[in-house]
Amino acid sequence: MNPAIECQQLSRRFPGGKGVHALDLHVPGGSIYGFLGPNGAGKTTTIRLLLGLLRPDGGEIRLFGERHRYGDTQWLHQVGALVEGPSLYPHLSGRQNLDISRRLLGLPATRIDAVLARVDLSNDADRRVRDYSLGMRQRLAIALALLGEPRLLILDEPANGLDPAGIIDLRRLLAELAAEGVTVFVSSHQLSEVEQVASHVGVLQRGRLRFEGSLHELRERYRALLEIRCDEPSRAMPLLEGFAAHIQRRDDAILLDADAGSEVAINRHLVENGIAVSHLARENSSLEQLFFALTGDDDATNDVEAAA
Ligand SMILES: Nc1ncnc2c1ncn2[C@@H]1O[C@H](COP(=O)(O)OP(=O)(O)OP(=O)(O)O)[C@@H](O)[C@H]1O
Ligand SMILES: [Mg+2]
Repeated sequence: MNPAIECQQLSRRFPGGKGVHALDLHVPGGSIYGFLGPNGAGKTTTIRLLLGLLRPDGGEIRLFGERHRYGDTQWLHQVGALVEGPSLYPHLSGRQNLDISRRLLGLPATRIDAVLARVDLSNDADRRVRDYSLGMRQRLAIALALLGEPRLLILDEPANGLDPAGIIDLRRLLAELAAEGVTVFVSSHQLSEVEQVASHVGVLQRGRLRFEGSLHELRERYRALLEIRCDEPSRAMPLLEGFAAHIQRRDDAILLDADAGSEVAINRHLVENGIAVSHLARENSSLEQLFFALTGDDDATNDVEAAA
């Protein structure tokens, strides 16, 4: 199968050095691709470029092996998308909202019940969207994206505003779609949101792709950081230098990307040097720590020039 999305050197700069720079994305057909990055990293910009909503400054996009140029419309039926919150008519019902798009796309009326069932909104289809919860609106927006039976579904932070149960439902839906052969490209600023469902991951920081590969490869590269609390952190920091490539002070704690199994040696070394260690444990993974482990840098600001 052709890759669903392939970009070479895709770039779009905004004033002040913001934007995305020289992205080489490879999204395998049939994958669930988690596109991770903190606020302002350039996720929405990338998605707008992929969808042809924004003109690139440079680079190339291929969808299913075919060149996709800004302004092309032949992709409309093959790609379903939800970008930066749905535009819905609040005074109309869910069904009526779907019907407007269905007519525009020239699709049969049967698609409406099909997508309503898909996102579990059949029972609420005739209520006004004004009376929907945030999670129901999000599901309706996904139903809209699915109307044309797309081969590729692009969702920009679909989990935003969802409660834990809503996030679990969303994951299940994405997994079902992928099982049917739909490629899903889903952005998030939280590693935990995508790591349970994604097969592949791209990590964006300051407009640049810092990592791309399978979730398995990411886990190989990334170890949970070791967190140490002790009585004299300033004196402990230089003592830890031989144990890790990156060492960072965070409030009272020291974080380091030490090898698995080095905890005993680290503890002994600190204690032998007269440091009282009160806590030494692996932290749970967060996106911030992932950046630290991958790049030694947890600054999230989008500044292409500074990062270049
Ligand atoms: N049209 C624009 N003109 C100027 N700057 C822009 C424009 N669109 C985005 N930016 C800037 O480009 C950077 C990336 O923005 P983008 O919206 O792509 O980030 P994001 O990863 O989607 O962030 P978030 O998680 O907050 O949605 C930001 O610094 C933003 O201010
Ligand atoms: Mg965004």
